[in-house]
Amino acid sequence: MEDWERALTEGVLPDGHEMRLEHMPWNVTAAMTELEREVMW
Ligand code: HEM
Repeated sequence: MEDWERALTEGVLPDGHEMRLEHMPWNVTAAMTELEREVMW
């Protein structure tokens, strides 16, 4: 769950890869509530 939260709020994957916003709009998932991200998980 921590990896999921970090990927969706900071765009950083467990292997350290930083997702580009223009590829994966993690700013949208970051703007969600923690509960919304949790239920997707
Ligand atoms: C609620 C919506 C979304 C969720 C929860 C989500 C979740 C994720 C997650 C967890 C990853 C990392 C996968 C991995 O382990 O490599 C990922 C990667 C990616 N997502 Fe999303 N995503 C969402 C919406 C979108 C949308 C709308 C797009 C495109 C229009 C998108 C495009 C991508 C791309 C291209 C990657 C690979 C980025 C990279 O590896 O640099 N995602 N997404």
